[in-house]
Amino acid sequence: MANTIPPGAGDFMAPLDQMLHPYREQFPPQATLPTEGVDREAVLEQIRALSEIEQSRWKQGYASGSVYHGDDEHIEFLNRVYALQSQANQLHADLWPSAAKFEGEIVAMTAHMLGAGQTTAPFGSPEGVCGAVSSGGSESILLAMKAYRDWARDKKGITKPELVVPDSAHAAFHKAGEYFNIRVNVTPLDEQFRADVSAVEDAINENTIAIVGSAVNFPYGTIDPLEEMSELAQRRGVGMHVDACLGGFFLPWVEKLGHEVPKFDFRLPGVTSMSCDTHKYGYAAKGTSVVLYRGMELRRYQYFTIADWPGGLYYSPTFSGSRPGGLSAACWAALMSMGEKGYLEATRRILEAVKIMRGGVEQIEGLRVLGKPIGVFAFAAEELDIYQVMDQMSARRWALTGLQRPPALHVSPTLRHTQPGVAERFVEDLNESVAFVREHPNAEGGMAPIYGLAASIPDRSIVHEMLRQLMDLYYSL
Ligand SMILES: Cc1ncc(COP(=O)(O)O)c(C=O)c1O
Repeated sequence: MANTIPPGAGDFMAPLDQMLHPYREQFPPQATLPTEGVDREAVLEQIRALSEIEQSRWKQGYASGSVYHGDDEHIEFLNRVYALQSQANQLHADLWPSAAKFEGEIVAMTAHMLGAGQTTAPFGSPEGVCGAVSSGGSESILLAMKAYRDWARDKKGITKPELVVPDSAHAAFHKAGEYFNIRVNVTPLDEQFRADVSAVEDAINENTIAIVGSAVNFPYGTIDPLEEMSELAQRRGVGMHVDACLGGFFLPWVEKLGHEVPKFDFRLPGVTSMSCDTHKYGYAAKGTSVVLYRGMELRRYQYFTIADWPGGLYYSPTFSGSRPGGLSAACWAALMSMGEKGYLEATRRILEAVKIMRGGVEQIEGLRVLGKPIGVFAFAAEELDIYQVMDQMSARRWALTGLQRPPALHVSPTLRHTQPGVAERFVEDLNESVAFVREHPNAEGGMAPIYGLAASIPDRSIVHEMLRQLMDLYYSL
């Protein structure tokens, strides 16, 4: 029978269930609305208790990525801004024109950071860089891919759209393919974990709407050969999206600090769109990102309008209808309060932490950093089960991401890792973890068997089914 979960796999759901629902005993699940409203203080008390339990791990720097700033004063500031604008909704710009101000300026500030002032057409002109604020990196990517699909249908008559996506590009490009009926052609990487440009060229055909590059990609933190890809995109007349969700608010400051960073943004003439997350190294609260286009024409294909709906003349630039105005206000406030100096200093501190953390990995025999990353990095092991190393790091409270190709661990260093002693603790714990796995190569339990099982199942539809079960589990009580 297709999609049968292999024997024993069901057992893996138990630790995952425990991971998703650790509060069942302490805070019994609530399946129906309380008859009488619960006292606000009691509600707050429960949320405070949950938040306190969860804070200790990310605050002390045990997470990879996830919370990119996290200093108390910064959080308090963003919370105050959110509170002031918590009722605002961009859908009702007549009531909250401040939303148009905040979002227009978020787009402009981000665009200028990414080379919008150095293109042939100035920002704000029809051919200049423009953009929109979305809810996160995935939405920015989905919006751009939808825009390319509709643009290519309209302008080039392409009815069977295809994308060319290096293997390291984010999962959101595959999501876009599934949602919008775009065929995704995956191309291999070179030995430095960057897009292989000749493979990208070979994959372009008459149905190609765009090619994709990353600065930096999520798995390895490497930058694709974007200059060559930009030339290719221009030569073949296709769009080019640079996913700078992770690197957009990091690389410009690395470059300004005097390090060598290849051009990755609108300074490259073939780049026609970008995604850049304010809610990562932009240090805004979760829930905002920016999608940018070269020229207003392409952005038009992102928009939704309906002229004959009984509910009125309706339009919305992104996927959501109503949107949280408070988040855009908080995002604007983050950008304004950080300023260039703030981003430079934050980036300088993170690079110092990276030096210690990645340097520590390089010193451990049997571990190998993949490619030549700038900030975010990944490492594999020569003779050890790297997933067991991940389990040992988890036992020491670290939350690292397991990669699949090759089996490796990914770390996104943030300002949390710049706190005194955190980067050093990472290296110490990693040394201990590796030593433990060397001594106990057959230790049981943890996530290692799940990763091992997922990697060993040739029928990937079974793995899809396991992931669907995991999502069912998420919504169970
Ligand atoms: C390179 C890259 N692109 C896109 C995304 C998706 O962003 P989000 O999780 O905000 O949807 C991520 C997330 O880590 C990323 O690293």
